[in-house]
Amino acid sequence: MRSSPLPPYFLILLVFLIHCSIQVSCFRFNFPTFEKDDEKQLILSEDTTDIEQNAIQVTPDFSNGIYIETKSGRAVYKKPFRLWRDSHTIASFNTTFVLNIEKKTSPGGEGLAFIIAGNSTLPPNSEGRWLGIVNSNPNGSQVVAMEFDTRKSDDQDLDDNHIGLDINSINSMLSVSLTRFGFNISGGRDLWALLQYDGQNLTVRVNETLVLSQRLDLSRYLPKEVFVGFSASTSNETQLNCVISWEFFGTDIEGEGNLLWVAWIMIAVVILVLFIGVLFYLYWRIGPIEEDLEGAQKNIEDEIRRSDFAPKKFRFSKLKQATSNFSPNNKLGKGGFGTVYKGSWGNKDVAVKRVSKKSNQGKQEFIAEVTTIGNLNHKNLVKLIGWCYERRELLLVYEYMPNGSLDKYIFCDKKAGIVESRLNWEQRQNIIQGAAQALEYLHNGCQNRVLHRDIKASNIMLDSEFIAKLGDFGLARTIHEKEKAYHSTIEIAGTPGYMAPETFLTSRATVEIDVYSFGVLILEVVCGRKPGNKSEQKNYNNSIVNWVWEHYKNGKITAAVDSRMDGNFVENEAERVLILGLACCHPNPHYRPCMRTVSQVLLGGIDPPEVPQERPSFVLPAMPPSFTQMEYSLKGSQLNPFTDLAGR
Ligand SMILES: *[C@@H]1O[C@H](CO)[C@@H](O)[C@H](O)[C@H]1NC(C)=O
Ligand SMILES: *[C@@H]1O[C@H](CO)[C@@H](O)[C@H](O)[C@H]1NC(C)=O
Ligand SMILES: *[C@@H]1O[C@H](CO)[C@@H](O)[C@H](O)[C@H]1NC(C)=O
Ligand SMILES: *[C@@H]1O[C@H](CO)[C@@H](O)[C@H](O)[C@H]1NC(C)=O
Ligand SMILES: *[C@@H]1O[C@H](CO)[C@@H](O)[C@H](O)[C@H]1NC(C)=O
Ligand SMILES: *[C@@H]1O[C@H](CO)[C@@H](O)[C@H](O)[C@H]1NC(C)=O
Ligand SMILES: *[C@@H]1O[C@H](CO)[C@@H](O)[C@H](O)[C@H]1NC(C)=O
Repeated sequence: MRSSPLPPYFLILLVFLIHCSIQVSCFRFNFPTFEKDDEKQLILSEDTTDIEQNAIQVTPDFSNGIYIETKSGRAVYKKPFRLWRDSHTIASFNTTFVLNIEKKTSPGGEGLAFIIAGNSTLPPNSEGRWLGIVNSNPNGSQVVAMEFDTRKSDDQDLDDNHIGLDINSINSMLSVSLTRFGFNISGGRDLWALLQYDGQNLTVRVNETLVLSQRLDLSRYLPKEVFVGFSASTSNETQLNCVISWEFFGTDIEGEGNLLWVAWIMIAVVILVLFIGVLFYLYWRIGPIEEDLEGAQKNIEDEIRRSDFAPKKFRFSKLKQATSNFSPNNKLGKGGFGTVYKGSWGNKDVAVKRVSKKSNQGKQEFIAEVTTIGNLNHKNLVKLIGWCYERRELLLVYEYMPNGSLDKYIFCDKKAGIVESRLNWEQRQNIIQGAAQALEYLHNGCQNRVLHRDIKASNIMLDSEFIAKLGDFGLARTIHEKEKAYHSTIEIAGTPGYMAPETFLTSRATVEIDVYSFGVLILEVVCGRKPGNKSEQKNYNNSIVNWVWEHYKNGKITAAVDSRMDGNFVENEAERVLILGLACCHPNPHYRPCMRTVSQVLLGGIDPPEVPQERPSFVLPAMPPSFTQMEYSLKGSQLNPFTDLAGR
């Protein structure tokens, strides 16, 4: 079983999508230290805040050469953070930052805060006790702050060394003094802070000590999109408010939305991939709906390669040149599926059959022909020299038969310029023998049994010495199990007049049907008559069979012999051959001899089978011996086959 190419691609796709979804599901940044360049990633309040000394100077540093008194500043991350979508969907985050606050006056002031704000802009007049968080009119502000207050500026303040949770106000709803934990915020030492929010609770750790934990619904106070960062202020009391490093991890609830999209896209992709997979599978199992010639060509080449006398593959250009561009002057004849031209290169002549491009049947015929006779070699078979499939052109190259096809001689075709039949008795006998040997070889002599299915005078070719060569394998079918003597087929193939009466009932190609056609051929060659006209064929009474049988019944079968031989034939030989022909045309396939017997009779080894004086009538259903009762089904619709069937 061919392994499907889909799973690896599918896995790669899946990994890629998961990778993408992980990427978008995080809102994350990290400043292990601050460089001047990092200002691009931040929104800094003008005149007061910038990056100096590898730190965010939230309120001015001395190095700026400006006053540091009575200032406020803000520094927030440029990209807003999606905090919530609805009351059920609130982002969680954690952030770690290191502060360094150094008093410049005593007691120092005012302080620094981590802020989550709807507005990135520093509120005016927010210096002094307002820490850059709000100003004296906090109405309409949307800000939550964790203040690191270093000055007790009023009675509300716990002391000059505390943290506090401020919501839209400078008055802390909760404050904790750090003095009892042994930490001095404004002592000029690094202060390590970790804020964690899980969507419900906010916890604060300072230098790895849990100092605050509070249940908090941030979505109540803040817009959906917020800026995160720092604010700070000084008054107449001053200090340096520095942020040394900062890392932020947030879940991206927008990303979760994206995740949902990704999930939908993945489902769609999976369905699409499965659908395509199913199509591929069906294509592979059932095969192309129309015969795929590219594939066929490969099959043909495979099949041909196995054969010792493999036909050659020709270039179209060479065949075009050999036939003088398929000149009408070189036309030898027109078959059911194509036109035959004479071609020559050097002093070698060939017959080139150009399969009609329009005919789909023609393609099948082409394949049948190359795969059946391509592998066969017998002196009484027309040799297939080569083939060509190029530019949608199908061509077959055969050995050239100077005397053309047999029908021109026996039917005295005036158009072909043969007015008088030139075939004498010996030639006729040789032709029958040759054809019999060819058919016997097909049925019994080659590796796989081949049913020709279209034995008739126009398919017997004559070489320069009037040796018969069986050709036109367009309808031929190879049967791969040797024992089996029939080929299941849904189409009725053959040429009216040569078709056995049971053909239309069996829907199968059988050896007996080939034998019947061969019997008709014998009678034609000996009697010089066409097999019958259409109206007579309708009741399966092929006229030539009936006609000869009448002579046999009247006791003088040799009266049927072609009068154009002027009696120059061997009486008892002619009688044997005609009786053999009748035996082959027995309406009941059970009584027809096999081709081996036919050959032996023709070579004079044995007598022809006995034939009843009166032509037996065809009795329904007469099944060929080569298939069993079980497989047989009578289809009423097939009883009147000629309506759709054109002779070839
Ligand atoms: C912060 O959150 C991220 C992502 O959820 C997690 O990997 C990390 O360990 C957290 N850090 C702390 C200090 O909690
Ligand atoms: C942000 O705050 C500034 C200063 O208070 C104000 O001018 C601006 O309109 C605010 N922006 C929004 C979107 O509220
Ligand atoms: C702020 O809003 C409150 C009511 O919400 C109102 O009483 C107060 O006067 C407002 N303050 C200012 C400065 O507008
Ligand atoms: C916090 O811890 C660091 C080392 O972990 C130390 O250097 C620093 O002084 C501490 N800060 C305070 C305010 O105690
Ligand atoms: C913190 O340190 C500064 C400078 O050393 C000092 O002036 C201040 O009193 C200290 N505050 C506390 C609460 O220990
Ligand atoms: C939040 O904190 C409260 C106590 O303050 C606790 O009972 C609750 O379990 C915490 N919730 C979560 C989700 O950690
Ligand atoms: C700041 O002002 C307050 C009162 O307005 C005063 O007590 C304090 O000494 C001043 N601080 C400095 C450093 O001038």
